[in-house]
Amino acid sequence: MFFSMGYAAALVSIGVFAQQTFASSNGTIPMPIPTLKDFDDTGVLGGLYKPNTTTDRARIGVYVMHAEQDYTNFVACHALPKRGFTVFCANNEASKSGYMSDINFEDMMIQVNTGLVWLRNQSYIDKVVILGHSGGGAMMAAYQNIAENGASACNGPEKIYPCSDAMNDLEPADGLMLLDANYGLSTMAFLSFNPAIVDEKNSSLLNQSMNAYNPANGFINNTESNYTASFMERFKEGAVARNSRILKYTQERLAAIEAGYGAYGDDEPLTIPAALYLGFNNLIFGADPRYLHHTTYSWPLLHKNGTTTQIVPSVRVPANFEDYSQNWQYGALKTTIRRFLSTLAIRVNETYEINVDGFEGIDYASSQTAPLAAIGGIKVPLLTMGMTGHYEYLNAEKLHLNAGSNDTSIAFVEGAEHSINTCIECESYPGEFGDTVITCFNYVENWLAKPGRFL
Ligand SMILES: *[C@@H]1O[C@H](CO)[C@@H](O)[C@H](O)[C@H]1NC(C)=O
Ligand SMILES: *[C@@H]1O[C@H](CO)[C@@H](O)[C@H](O)[C@H]1NC(C)=O
Ligand SMILES: *[C@@H]1O[C@H](CO)[C@@H](O)[C@H](O)[C@H]1NC(C)=O
Ligand SMILES: *[C@@H]1O[C@H](CO)[C@@H](O)[C@H](O)[C@H]1NC(C)=O
Ligand SMILES: *[C@@H]1O[C@H](CO)[C@@H](O)[C@H](O)[C@H]1NC(C)=O
Ligand SMILES: *[C@@H]1O[C@H](CO)[C@@H](O)[C@H](O)[C@H]1NC(C)=O
Ligand SMILES: *[C@@H]1O[C@H](CO)[C@@H](O)[C@H](O)[C@H]1NC(C)=O
Ligand SMILES: *[C@@H]1O[C@H](CO)[C@@H](O)[C@H](O)[C@H]1NC(C)=O
Ligand SMILES: *[C@@H]1O[C@H](CO)[C@@H](O)[C@H](O)[C@H]1NC(C)=O
Ligand SMILES: *[C@@H]1O[C@H](CO)[C@@H](O)[C@H](O)[C@H]1NC(C)=O
Repeated sequence: MFFSMGYAAALVSIGVFAQQTFASSNGTIPMPIPTLKDFDDTGVLGGLYKPNTTTDRARIGVYVMHAEQDYTNFVACHALPKRGFTVFCANNEASKSGYMSDINFEDMMIQVNTGLVWLRNQSYIDKVVILGHSGGGAMMAAYQNIAENGASACNGPEKIYPCSDAMNDLEPADGLMLLDANYGLSTMAFLSFNPAIVDEKNSSLLNQSMNAYNPANGFINNTESNYTASFMERFKEGAVARNSRILKYTQERLAAIEAGYGAYGDDEPLTIPAALYLGFNNLIFGADPRYLHHTTYSWPLLHKNGTTTQIVPSVRVPANFEDYSQNWQYGALKTTIRRFLSTLAIRVNETYEINVDGFEGIDYASSQTAPLAAIGGIKVPLLTMGMTGHYEYLNAEKLHLNAGSNDTSIAFVEGAEHSINTCIECESYPGEFGDTVITCFNYVENWLAKPGRFL
């Protein structure tokens, strides 16, 4: 989930290799001009940003890729070369338009591997450290776990759609940074399901008792909603029921396809109304920020002028006022039976809760794209960071608590929006949070450069 300013705004392309116009928070250092690396015929390409130095830091290659968005000009592509590191910001083949959700789990893993193997093989690189942001964090956590442990990390009976042996040959990185990694691509898909849908073939039929945009349930447009306790119960119950219904249907379709009775021999199209995880659809903790509002424990919180250790509150402002349930382009999940099951499906049972400090009842291990299921298998140095201007920040705590690495660090950036830029609208006075890109990447810089870790 990269969109933080509403769906329409997010569809405006940020422009490949538009580095000359990048608004620098530090105008004194020239922006590196990336060189294009195109992996012929794979759909994978990226920009290599080399620092204007030849120090040891430049021998650390930071590798950036997102699950389905254009990250060739992501903020880290500029912030880290300025601090002396080499950065490769690459894209996979998935649609960048947001219209379609065509991601496919094993393809994603293979495409991460393509860029990583190339970066590691460069003569000027000694260590490769992955940077996964948002949905890229979900993708990269899965990747590193499988790369370290082989296909046994993704082909067990707990998985809805076990992986193939092709997952045995992925190259692991030397370290992993997860910045505002989301709760998982599959979890975000589940969270985006509108439980009010009555008929999976007709988005206009909504059960108003479960409609998150119904004022009778506590929705208040353009400000903080105050959902009633009884609505929350109906909503959660309905979400679990709809998830189970969709899972049952898609598994039945897969069985039919595999038995030779599918509409096609290999796969089938799947359109799920009011379910698109790209954007803010039906995310009630966006409209009502009382949920997912603070960490369970105390952690380092980076301010513009120092660090405190405390229970970390979210400073986000309410969002998610637009109901796209009846909209095909912005509301419907457009995928296939196999792609849904392998990439976006997850089991959730009746213990499902949305709490002030996290979720319960989500079976992360059933999914290939839930970072909480992957994190225990990752042994290389791990950094998790959360941006307090967004609801995805809490996952940094859960990942840190479940980490399998013996070198784990965590920090939160006060007032950063999901994109890591300063959340201006979250400030109670201008300048309250300073430049959060500088705050965040100064911390990342010290983590990467700590003697004994990668240098
Ligand atoms: C810009 O970067 C230089 C070199 O890293 C540093 O000395 C300077 O303080 C930075 N300026 C700002 C405004 O952050
Ligand atoms: C680094 O940038 C400065 C200022 O643009 C330039 O003068 C210098 O030649 C550059 N050094 C290298 C090694 O590219
Ligand atoms: C690694 O680099 C060498 C030298 O450029 C090249 O010959 C080789 O094909 C590369 N291997 C891979 C896997 O990219
Ligand atoms: C959807 O439901 C509405 C309201 O009952 C009905 O008018 C419409 O014909 C239905 N459309 C489809 C495609 O079933
Ligand atoms: C939210 O609703 C509850 C009743 O459900 C009420 O007691 C409370 O004052 C409301 N809070 C706000 C901020 O409107
Ligand atoms: C609407 O949902 C409620 C539960 O929230 C359920 O009791 C009711 O039967 C549903 N109505 C229809 C028409 O499906
Ligand atoms: C940081 O700034 C805030 C507000 O300006 C101030 O209250 C606080 O004492 C400062 N903290 C440090 C460590 O300087
Ligand atoms: C909330 O208001 C905005 C205009 O400010 C409107 O575009 C939007 O559709 C409204 N949301 C709902 C759910 O009615
Ligand atoms: C519900 O799911 C949670 C999370 O996967 C699990 O811990 C719990 O045992 C499950 N409960 C039941 C009744 O299946
Ligand atoms: C931490 O784990 C790494 C990789 O498994 C291992 O090489 C290292 O010895 C461990 N360090 C400590 C202090 O246990």
